[in-house]
Amino acid sequence: MRVIDSIDELKTTVRLLKNEGKTIGLIPTMGYLHEGHISLVKASRHNNDITIMSIFVNPAQFGPNEDFEKYPRDVAGDSRKADEAGVDILFIPSVNEMYPDSYSTYIEVLGITDRLCGKSRQGHFKGVCTVVLKLFNIVEPDRAYFGQKDAQQAAVIKKMVKDLNSTVWITVCPIVRESDGLAMSSRNVYLNKEERKAALVLSKSLMEAVDLTANGEADCERLRDRLISIIGGEKLADIDYVEILDAETLEFKEILKGRMLVAVAVRFGKTRLIDNVVVEVN
Ligand code: PAF
Repeated sequence: MRVIDSIDELKTTVRLLKNEGKTIGLIPTMGYLHEGHISLVKASRHNNDITIMSIFVNPAQFGPNEDFEKYPRDVAGDSRKADEAGVDILFIPSVNEMYPDSYSTYIEVLGITDRLCGKSRQGHFKGVCTVVLKLFNIVEPDRAYFGQKDAQQAAVIKKMVKDLNSTVWITVCPIVRESDGLAMSSRNVYLNKEERKAALVLSKSLMEAVDLTANGEADCERLRDRLISIIGGEKLADIDYVEILDAETLEFKEILKGRMLVAVAVRFGKTRLIDNVVVEVN
């Protein structure tokens, strides 16, 4: 595995690979890799000749009171994991490499960013879209891979790609869970023992949503109330949102119909976790 920290060097390397006719898969990450990231590597290796992973804790997507400084980092461990997983090129730029002092261009997707995480994390998706488009322009991948756990992020990136006529094919890979159901996340490391246990209420509530809709529940408000009461029953859980929306457009619906995204964001102590499930309602 080759490790590159310079944009120019990566661009030159990619150009040579493309001249050889190689296809390229890109996996943008913020590091602190877990099995969720590794599943993206597997998907990319399956469909592309070359897999490039970026590790960049992107300051532009963190609000002033968020965890940018504290966000877990482990470059040595990540390099080993990426190498073992079969990543060909690991791109680890510095903040200055991505955002030099003169930097002044940002990408905003309107509409679908005004709800869910976009509502509670103002400016978050502007930072995500900016860095993802920069990575797309640097690597010019054939395909890029994102996790379904960040369902809104995936929808926003798909919208950006469509609106800006990008040719990058976006693949969204399923959520990877711990054996007890907790969705894998780099932020799980923040949880203490009690919070870790309490956080299981997220997957429990989502399983209830699957059961209820499979048994005919089609009323959005009633389902939402039920989930709020399950999560609210856990004393360490502080709900940010519980929402049920159209899985493709992220539009709110009163009656559940077709593919619906059930999405939750909940704080346990200082740690904000997100999780979701897509249910098919006929
Ligand atoms: O999902 C993430 O880790 C980040 O939001 C991403 C897509 C790498 C952009 O910084």
